[in-house]
Amino acid sequence: MSLNQSGWRPEAPVGDSRGQGAQTATGNRALMLEERLIFEIGSSESCGVDLPAPDPAAPPARLGGLERAAPAGLPGLSEPEAVRHYTRLSRQNYAIDLGLFPLGSCTMKHNPRLNEKVARMPGFADVHPLAPQGAIQGALAVIHELGEWLKALTGMPGVAMSPKAGAHGELCGLLAIRAALDARDDPREVVLVPTSAHGTNPATAAFCGYRVEEIGATADGRVDMTALEARIGPDVAALMITNPNTCGLFERDIHRMAEAIHAAGGFLYCDGANFNAIVGRVRPGDLGVDAMHINLHKTFSTPHGGGGPGSGPVVFSEALAPFAPLPAVRLADGRFHLVEEETQADHGHGQSFGRLAAFHGQMGMFTRALAYILSHGADGLAQVSGDAVLNANYILRCLERELDAPFVASGPCMHEALFSDKGFAEGFSTLDLAKALIDEGFHPMTMYFPLVVHGAMLVEPTETESKAALDQFITALASLARRAREGDPALKSAPHFAPRRRLDETLAARKPRLVWSEE
Ligand SMILES: Cc1ncc(COP(=O)(O)O)c(C=O)c1O
Repeated sequence: MSLNQSGWRPEAPVGDSRGQGAQTATGNRALMLEERLIFEIGSSESCGVDLPAPDPAAPPARLGGLERAAPAGLPGLSEPEAVRHYTRLSRQNYAIDLGLFPLGSCTMKHNPRLNEKVARMPGFADVHPLAPQGAIQGALAVIHELGEWLKALTGMPGVAMSPKAGAHGELCGLLAIRAALDARDDPREVVLVPTSAHGTNPATAAFCGYRVEEIGATADGRVDMTALEARIGPDVAALMITNPNTCGLFERDIHRMAEAIHAAGGFLYCDGANFNAIVGRVRPGDLGVDAMHINLHKTFSTPHGGGGPGSGPVVFSEALAPFAPLPAVRLADGRFHLVEEETQADHGHGQSFGRLAAFHGQMGMFTRALAYILSHGADGLAQVSGDAVLNANYILRCLERELDAPFVASGPCMHEALFSDKGFAEGFSTLDLAKALIDEGFHPMTMYFPLVVHGAMLVEPTETESKAALDQFITALASLARRAREGDPALKSAPHFAPRRRLDETLAARKPRLVWSEE
């Protein structure tokens, strides 16, 4: 047992070539303290609050025989102990507010504090989904105005605001496609998904009951148009692409794809989670897209990761807009109205496929996203995508001689740079490099995704990183790439300076222990 109340394991740091250092009596490392579980530090004798004694006059059978027979076994802590416990835990979290978060496909960018301020205004933060419409005109105005912006930025005439995440938006889009096909009595069975699409795309199509058929990629990392055109036919409900795709490349043949699928009576779904690379420059509606979700929690700078709420509004083409889900916000006679039922007269949603969520969407995400859009303006958003793409290409070009970059010859990348483990010494992998990146003070990049690249490393810096931050990251990655090529054995056991050494990730994933038990 450690001498230290906070629970830092005395065996850390261990002695090896990179982790050698003096042991401390407490096991702590400078002012960085580790924390044991609350059950391990609390005791049933302590209590942080004074509760009134049970009322002796209260009827004994108030709980109908369900009174607790034994103590609940909750850990007791005084208030300062509780405060320290959670503060120590919070210091062990890595966050975008601490440093670069290069997770490809996640667009982990700075969330401006202005957004937070607006979202915390009581009129938005405390709004109740069942409040009478006359009392929440401001909140409805926000939902409506954000929807108008999304339509303008994408060049699409319809929008559904209620989907709660990107994958939920995909579901929304495919349900609208199915409703449109049903309306013309044309049920179809197949959704085509290229290998360069995001993993949620085939999962969503399968969840909707479609048979998913894969379309391969060419050597340059884009959809194989010959294979696609050969397969498109009258049984295909939709083609679901991700653009920019998961290899970080723009699908240049998107016009051709749209023409081919439309000619066969199907629809083009575009995963727009990577909109950050093209926002303000390209309107997917002009490319022939019929439905596209937008991850507000990525492009429009609302916090995500760690299980926070997301928001995945979907924009629709003319052909699909009538089938969009309810509720919808409509402006008429100078007032905002919530259309909740298909039967509500004169609202243009008579063919809606129904309701996707209990209420109207994520109000906090809406206010943050609208604050972000209004503070940037259309020109500012175009600069966002320009800078995001510039930063990713800076990383790609600075590291192309250090790490294998499989699609470097396919032209500039979009907002993320893709590398592989090709050239590492025998037995060294992407995982080793990612773990060593933790020692260098960086959250690892996305690993082993996309699946089409062996040992993939997908790096998305976003536009909010300075050149100094990018240079530091590039220096760290270049040094680790060299060590991986040379086969430095210390890489195999990284991280060495983190509170925990390398964990058994398979065990953690397959047999997670999520409930504390006294062993
Ligand atoms: C390209 C792409 N599509 C879809 C999704 C799914 O979005 P969500 O995690 O909000 O469901 C993501 C998630 O990051 C993504 O990167």
